[in-house]
Amino acid sequence: MRGHRLRTPPHRPPRSLARLGVALLLTVAAGVGAGGAAAPGTAAGGARQAAAPAALDSVIPAPAAVAPGGSPYEITADTAIRVPPGSSAAAASARDAGEYLAGVLRPSTGFDLPVGSESGEVELRLSARLKKAVGTEGYELTSGADGVLISAAAPAGLFHGVQTLRQLLPPTVEADTAQDGPWLVAGGRITDEPRFAYRSAMLDVARHFFTVEQVKRYIDQLALYKYNTLHLHLTDDQGWRLAIDSWPNLAEYGGSTQVGGGPGGYYTKDQYRELVAYAASRHMTVVPEVDMPGHTNSALASYAELNCDGVAPPLYTGTSVGFSSLCVPKEVTYDFVDDVVRELAELTPGRYLHIGGDEAHSTPHDEYVAFMERAQKIVAKYGKTVVGWHQITANPAEGAVAQYWGTTGGEQEVIDAAKAGTPLVLSPANRTYLDMKYHAQTPLGLSWAGYVEVRQSYDWDPGTYMRGGVPESAVLGVEAPMWSETLSTNDQIEFMAFPRAAGAAELGWSPAAKLGWDGYRDRLVAQGPRWEAMGIDFYRSAQVPWE
Ligand code: ACM
Repeated sequence: MRGHRLRTPPHRPPRSLARLGVALLLTVAAGVGAGGAAAPGTAAGGARQAAAPAALDSVIPAPAAVAPGGSPYEITADTAIRVPPGSSAAAASARDAGEYLAGVLRPSTGFDLPVGSESGEVELRLSARLKKAVGTEGYELTSGADGVLISAAAPAGLFHGVQTLRQLLPPTVEADTAQDGPWLVAGGRITDEPRFAYRSAMLDVARHFFTVEQVKRYIDQLALYKYNTLHLHLTDDQGWRLAIDSWPNLAEYGGSTQVGGGPGGYYTKDQYRELVAYAASRHMTVVPEVDMPGHTNSALASYAELNCDGVAPPLYTGTSVGFSSLCVPKEVTYDFVDDVVRELAELTPGRYLHIGGDEAHSTPHDEYVAFMERAQKIVAKYGKTVVGWHQITANPAEGAVAQYWGTTGGEQEVIDAAKAGTPLVLSPANRTYLDMKYHAQTPLGLSWAGYVEVRQSYDWDPGTYMRGGVPESAVLGVEAPMWSETLSTNDQIEFMAFPRAAGAAELGWSPAAKLGWDGYRDRLVAQGPRWEAMGIDFYRSAQVPWE
């Protein structure tokens, strides 16, 4: 049945031992836990044999530099986690990374894993001198018989190092019930830092609404692959998903339905703050998007005065694009934009605010340019940096970021803007759009950019993607967008995201020299049982020799 969707449970499937069959078989073959009588991690005895630990270079994204060697470290019932002392914000955030690590390890290992600053065999250490070597997001991980040390110049680096450590442990470490060890970490050293600063996943919460809990679950999955940005597509024709105090109908009426006519929904400001804080706890920054001047039917339906004819259209629950536009000549339009951007900027600790700008097919081009000129100034007025879909390269403001979503890398306007200093986030639709069908029979998703199998999604280089002499230095990063016309449950998101979201993460993080389909495919195999343990019903592509 490979390649077909089997089921659509409303929530995560149970993490039964049966789903971990492969790992269990390995454990039993190693003479540990046979008959299920042994307590987790304590099944010692003469017959005990350690399974070989995962190789240091087996993780996704591929680390920048790996030097294997020496004895492995085994996490046991006696292991403690050591974190930095002190009252600085950095020390507190580093301790949070330690608690996060313990939170991942405790359910599956069954160990106490106390977190403290006195001692511990697994240590997270802040070390300012590492900034030069690995920047603020990189880390060093050294492992040997006596323990594992993750060092970084900043807490984000420790957090990313923790993600590497997770993947060095057996997949069953992800289970939320006790599993048998041994919990071995291969010996050696990893020195790692990202290639690109902006490593983003987008979720369209407008076509279908996703609750705070649903978005948190996706954030947690993305964190495993060192994503640092969550782009939320908050508004579109079908729904307005964030409360705006000065224009309350936007959410209350404009958010009241969704594709297919369901009840929709929206985030209160407190709920939105909670999402932003949760993402921050995973070292991800939320980039909110309010799409303008097209993709605005939900706003136009909520306020008649935003329409050039003064008549509010009905709410829209279909999936067409390009039919709506804010009224560019009307001054009230800019009052609206100013209020929305001001309130959104207040909710946004990150520097970026995305204003869409795509598919404005109902806005005459001269009006589009005039509107984007003013909208970009409003974003700057509230202290934020504009991100827009690459159509903003018609007249990008100084410093504005263009998000490329074409399929050829050849649009001259984009090439010219990039060469003139407009940074690009690359999300080619026929590569990183996670809502594209994998193949003709994929029951979910769209196919306007073609079918995007796992290899097609991964096998390109962001540094050389754009044509016309755009240098790698013009590329700020990579994004994997998930549009939700056909998706309304986490299970559906996860089937479309995995494996492809792991590949986009590697393209954003790993150095060009470490990229390559053959090696990636082999590393992907090891993610399968991990996803099973996490309750992720991924797409079992025939291109990958899953075990
Ligand atoms: C887009 O896919 N319309 C950005």
